[in-house]
Amino acid sequence: MHEHDVLVIGGGGAGLRAAIAAQEEGADVAIVTKLHPVRSHTGAAEGGINAAIREGDSWDLHAYDTMKGSDYLGDAPAIETLAQDSPEETIQLEHWGMPFSREDDGTVSQRPFGGLSFPRTTYAGAETGHHLLHTMYEQVVKRGIQVYDEWYVSELAVTDEDDPSERTCHGVVGYDIKTGQVEGFKARNGVILATGGLGQVYDHTTNAVANTGDGAAMAYRAGVPLEDMEFIQFHPTTLPSTGVLISEGVRGEGGILYNAEGERFMFEYGYANNDGELASRDVVSRAELTEINEGRGVEDEYVYLDMRHLGEERITDRLENILHLARDFEGVDGLEEPMPVKPGQHYAMGGIETNEHGQTCIDGLYAAGECACVSVHGSNRLGGNALPELIVFGARAGRHAAGTDLGEPEIATGRDEEFEREDGLDTPVDPGAVGGASDAVADGGERTDGSRSSSDARSDGGTAVASADDVVQRAVENQRTRIDRLLNEDSGVQQAELREKLQKSMTQNVNVFRNEEGLKTALEDIREVRERYEDVYVDDPSRTFNTDLIHTIEMQNLLDLAEAITLGALARDEFRGAHWRQEHQERKDDEWLKHTMLAWNDGSPELYYKPVILEGEEDTYEPKVRSY
Ligand code: FUM
Repeated sequence: MHEHDVLVIGGGGAGLRAAIAAQEEGADVAIVTKLHPVRSHTGAAEGGINAAIREGDSWDLHAYDTMKGSDYLGDAPAIETLAQDSPEETIQLEHWGMPFSREDDGTVSQRPFGGLSFPRTTYAGAETGHHLLHTMYEQVVKRGIQVYDEWYVSELAVTDEDDPSERTCHGVVGYDIKTGQVEGFKARNGVILATGGLGQVYDHTTNAVANTGDGAAMAYRAGVPLEDMEFIQFHPTTLPSTGVLISEGVRGEGGILYNAEGERFMFEYGYANNDGELASRDVVSRAELTEINEGRGVEDEYVYLDMRHLGEERITDRLENILHLARDFEGVDGLEEPMPVKPGQHYAMGGIETNEHGQTCIDGLYAAGECACVSVHGSNRLGGNALPELIVFGARAGRHAAGTDLGEPEIATGRDEEFEREDGLDTPVDPGAVGGASDAVADGGERTDGSRSSSDARSDGGTAVASADDVVQRAVENQRTRIDRLLNEDSGVQQAELREKLQKSMTQNVNVFRNEEGLKTALEDIREVRERYEDVYVDDPSRTFNTDLIHTIEMQNLLDLAEAITLGALARDEFRGAHWRQEHQERKDDEWLKHTMLAWNDGSPELYYKPVILEGEEDTYEPKVRSY
């Protein structure tokens, strides 16, 4: 069994920052990651890092823009922490050698991004995430932090008290993708989940194949509630044939959107009379799809993003990567032609419920970055706010897990009697009746993911306290059994077929525009795929780089998260931020100024709600009409 003070799961931006911070506080840290760190999806982040570092700008303006962008569903303590800490974290990156783009006088450049009242997005060309990863990975190497790369973490080692808030996380189980060995990793202080996004729930996404929401799904099944899962961001400018991202930086530099009639539709049809192309992403994505649905799209599928007027010098200086992406993935020369773009899944605003220190309700279990929901983004994230979230909350989680006192958090986690309970909630579906996972364990048997219900796992009637080693070892045995079974079965259904069905249904039914019928269809599809997943098998019995095995395990995570997204979306009968409902065309502040919480509840998902915190350090953020 491997053993460290702090285990960081995931080697992207949040994971690297967390590991560096924990090491700086004196902890023995290791990163366990399914990809080598510099291959993490953070490397695909193009646009930049919002940080109020210029005269005329201030953290409170950044906080205000973020709260407005969230459509008043972000928590003020989290938003204000982001805005306050981002400048220092950004300057820290610069001191570590991050090659930020600069002005002629040598100062770090900043550009406008959607929904910002000040041009505060700091960037490194159109490959900011790539440089961010390399800069931090250098620090990891320099500090001798151990990295277990190409180790896939498939289960958390958590105690099994009935109340999730009384559980403790002692480590994780890792599968060595190179050799097929299953081994335990024990954490003396804490486990930090930094596993990134869940874009593979959808079939048109900017996310990498590795973005399967592993951390969020594992935490959920271990007893941590998921928060605000219905809020999925669809980025307005992705290449139609692949989903590859064309940075908002193009519009930040002055790029223009046109429909098939050559009209600058953001202004022409009044979608955003002030900010036009630089309205918030939810607004621009809806505008594009409205154009397409009303017959003004190109080939009924996309619109044009034009940057030719910026000139070759400016484009190659600030957006060179975009030229490569458009040419390599769409065969278009951005200097000579407009680029075809359409909305694509980009980001999950929701995730693992945490407080400002990255703590979850399970002792010793933390989360940071896209897999977490602290909640900074509420119902819609502003472009340029993901990278500061990684570094600000990654650093905080690392420090806290290493034992540093960060003071009392203002955000509560876990079930609280004061929170509004929604038993008997008037949702169009009974959450517990969806999914079938509860049936799978009703007889005390194993689930397909190898985990057991909390009562099943306690064979001694609940009196003995298992040691940390026992908890990790038990999780290792679960996973060994699960993997042996997947590899030894010689018939059944293969994951690729199930993944395709799930992705298509989610893209069709739980997209930018949503309605009750589509959401119910998606839930039925998820239930059907879940049933078929009971018979899943892996045709290739090899234990060396068996990617089909990894994808098969990931499939369980996609299913659990797709269900969480859809249940939250069905229950929220209002229009807020990225969540548009055909039957409910207004934001309902009286009813819905609250976070959607979903508890795993031994496989019978349970919805409840907790209030949004709008009281900031100085003022309360009053919800206003959100226009751009
Ligand atoms: O458009 C972009 O460059 C993406 C930035 C972001 O998601 O923050």
